[in-house]
Amino acid sequence: MISYKDLGLVNTREMFKKAIEGGYAIPAFNFNNMEQMQAIISACVECSSPVILQVSSGARKYANQTLLRYMAQGAVEYAKELGKNIPIVLHLDHGNSFELCKSCIDMGFSSVMIDGSHLPYDENVALTKQVVDYAHQFDVTVEGELGVLAGVEDEVSAEVAHYTRPEEVVDFVSKTGVDSLAISIGTSHGANKFKPEQCTRNADGILVPPPLRFDILEEIEKQIPGFPIVLHGSSSVPQEYVKIINTHGGALKDAVGIPEEELRKAAKSAVCKINIDSDGRLAMTAMVRKVFVDNPAEFDPRKYLGPARDELKKLYMHKCENVLGSAGTVE
Ligand code: G3H
Ligand code: 13P
Ligand code: ZN
Repeated sequence: MISYKDLGLVNTREMFKKAIEGGYAIPAFNFNNMEQMQAIISACVECSSPVILQVSSGARKYANQTLLRYMAQGAVEYAKELGKNIPIVLHLDHGNSFELCKSCIDMGFSSVMIDGSHLPYDENVALTKQVVDYAHQFDVTVEGELGVLAGVEDEVSAEVAHYTRPEEVVDFVSKTGVDSLAISIGTSHGANKFKPEQCTRNADGILVPPPLRFDILEEIEKQIPGFPIVLHGSSSVPQEYVKIINTHGGALKDAVGIPEEELRKAAKSAVCKINIDSDGRLAMTAMVRKVFVDNPAEFDPRKYLGPARDELKKLYMHKCENVLGSAGTVE
């Protein structure tokens, strides 16, 4: 049993309290490899933002859970070396069983998500409570989820979305004891968040997605005032990356995300954690494709992963500074 406290990590409790009071959201960036981790930490140190390093079960399978955990421990030291001891959370994204959450808690994660959102309500309550009861013994914080997001990723998929029902949140939060709640108000996982028929088109022919359901968010906030809310599926799918990818041999069709203004608005409310994975994937892919097309003789991985890492850092700083508002919140 390894405690995250011995690794220099923190749980989400204090972070979320400050974020709600300050009207900003903490970035939760997924990572699977060293370049992503370097970009996340150097960006958040440079703009003085707290950060949640997020590991999905797919990431665990891809990279090995022990390596990822040591990378998070290394991230704490790396941040100090770069000059700022920013608060860092190591979080399990979309945990789907008690056993997986327990295994992460036992090896040093400071926060876990138990995603029972696909289960019947009572089963979601029972599973979430089981994880909370275990996690709280070690001061590990737990994120639960009510409502189902659309979108398809390796380990997360749902054909049909349904919004969170505000009338369920008080019961869910009080029965489970969760520390934060992920909700469904129209965000969606992946780079193709909406079907073209759900969108309109602007003058340039770019798809404009349907607006988020801020009315549902407001109703939830009324039911559980000041309770930390989480938004998944919050990539904005920057069209400049889509363009670079598609003009350098890629084939992304109708890729569309959540407009940044909507996320800015959400971050000012009780939404205090915003999950971003796909935008990082797009930034890396765009830069790697560009190097391969511009310099076909290049074969040193540092020459294409390096530019990808630089672009990722820029993207993450932009998110903290201009979208989530978390920049400058660490003394
Ligand atoms: O919400 C899902 C995350 O983007 C993780 O995706 O399961 O493909 O690692 P993944
Ligand atoms: P995106 O696919 O929009 O980046 O969402 C990531 C996410 O919700 C991770 O849990
Ligand atoms: Zn998610």
